[in-house]
Parts: sequence; structure tokens; C-alpha cells
Amino acid sequence: MTRKIIIDTDPGIDDAMAIFFAFQAQELDVLGLTTVFGNVPVTLATENALRLAEIAGVDVPVAEGVAVPSVIAPRPHPDFVHGTDGFGNINWPSPKGKAIEQSAAEFIVEQVRQFPGEVTIVALAPLGNLAKALELDPEIANLVDEVVLMGGAAHEFGNVSPVAEANIINDPHAADKVFTAPWQVTMIGLDVTHQVVLGNAILGRIKEEKPDQGGFLYDCAQHYIKFYSDRFPIEGCYFHDASTIAYLMDPSIFTVERGPIRVACEGIALGQTIFAPEGLSYPEPHWDGVPSTQVCMEVDEERLLKLYEETMVS
Ligand code: BDR
Ligand code: CA
Repeated sequence: MTRKIIIDTDPGIDDAMAIFFAFQAQELDVLGLTTVFGNVPVTLATENALRLAEIAGVDVPVAEGVAVPSVIAPRPHPDFVHGTDGFGNINWPSPKGKAIEQSAAEFIVEQVRQFPGEVTIVALAPLGNLAKALELDPEIANLVDEVVLMGGAAHEFGNVSPVAEANIINDPHAADKVFTAPWQVTMIGLDVTHQVVLGNAILGRIKEEKPDQGGFLYDCAQHYIKFYSDRFPIEGCYFHDASTIAYLMDPSIFTVERGPIRVACEGIALGQTIFAPEGLSYPEPHWDGVPSTQVCMEVDEERLLKLYEETMVS
């Protein structure tokens, strides 16, 4: 049986890697893409989601979501990572399609209600749409199969501050709502995504086998690879968003620890995902009664990259 997923996204170069991966995966049925501000403004995220569906030749609804964080002021979009077009400044032509009328949160609620217990939300961006969906219909927390999100860092250093990861710091209040709601959250954070490096050898082979999707990915990845290779001792880019899809396809590639997470919503720790390992108790009450998140801690890089390449060329 295929697993139904909604991908919440801010495309974004690594979002593109994840979305094509999900489209290729036989085990997954992508019900729709919902968009949010983050790597680019939300209107561009929507256009980019439509572009990706058209390049892949997949007919899937795209619903536009929130344009700004729930509480804090918006941060600048990181064009130094993803380019001003979100795809490494390759200036891909405009999409032909349009977003549906429903908002992202309305689409999420509708799909979860239509398929109770069956929908997994894969979140690759700031979490405002998920928080909005919970506000619209709190009952969905009991009807969603799982929330698998790329974001946060339990023990690893952050990528926007020493403790904060980009998707969480961009909307920390929304993230705290998502981590404290009564649904199963699995966090694929920097603890694991910093253990996997995708380089041009694999991207080149995917391009050879699948010129449309692979050629697009190869071209946009060059900007992203330069950003990472200039800053870190790696030749390639960290494998952020697409790790969520690998987790859905084969969770045995990852090791997981469990425990509640709270998000720091002010001060110099803004956006920190503070993990309290299950079984430890503290006099500070902030984690009491909060459902346990499954936090991915280790990943088998070789198996993950093999799964990515094999799926992409299949
Ligand atoms: C996350 O932030 C964005 O730049 C990426 O698309 C990814 O979702 C990595 O921290
Ligand atoms: Ca993203």
C-alpha cells in the first residue's frame, strides 16, 4: 500500500531534491504541495512548487500558505544559499499552472479529514501552515498518521545561530505548537542532515539517466554546493529536506531517540529545539506533559545516498 503524504515546502534547492524524490518513490502518493515563506517569499515558493510539478510531469494540487511568521518579524530570505529565484539563479521559465483556491491550512485539514489516520505531513520549511491547520481544526492532531519534519537540532550546532536551524528560527512559535501538539512528530534535524553530503558525482549520474529532472537539479545545485563547499570542509551539499523522504521509504537507515521538544521563542536561543530525553525528569516544568518526538540521531550515509540515486534513476 502506498503512503499518502502532503509536502509542505519553500522551494528551495533541497526542497526540489526532496519533491522529485517523493514523486519517484513508488511507496508514496503525493496528495499535494503546500507552500510557505522561507527560502523565498511565499508567492515565489508557490510558483516554484508549480514549476517542479511541471518539470516532473506530475499533476498535483498546489496550495499557497502563510507569508510571514506567526509572531516575530520576518527574517531576510537567504538568497546567498538558494539564489533570488530559489533555484540557484537559473531563472527557469514561469509555470503554466496556478495554485488552487484553498489555503494551505484548509487543504491540509480537508485531506486529513478525507483520509483519517492515513495522511503523513512532510514539512520541509517553517511550520506556519501546520500551526494554522491545528488552529483551524485541532482534532486533526488525532487524525494525522505522522508529521515528519526537516528542522531543528538536538545536539548538533545550528545553521542560523549556534543553536538554531533555519526552518525553526523562521517561525519559532509555530514550531513550538507543532512539537507540543498531540500527534506523532519525527524530527529529521541537523543531527542527521549534517552527516550526509550529496556531491556532483551522484547528481551527474542522475542527470545522465533522467535529463529533465536530473538536469534541472544539477544546474540549481551548483549554487548550493558552492555555498556549502565554501563554508564547510565538504565537497557537495548537506542532504537536508530529501532525508525526510528517505526516512519514509526506509526508516531503518536512521537511529531514533525519543523525548519531548520545546522551542525557545525569545532571547539569544531563539529557535533552539530543546530536547528532553525520555526517562529523565527535571525540576523545570516546560517539558511536562509534552508528547515525545522521535528525533533522528544517526544515519547511514552510504545507504541513504544509494536509496536516493536508485530511486531517482528508476
Ligand atoms: C532547511 O532550511 C532551508 O534553507 C532548507 O530548504 C532546509 O529546509 C535547512 O536548514
Ligand atoms: Ca526547505
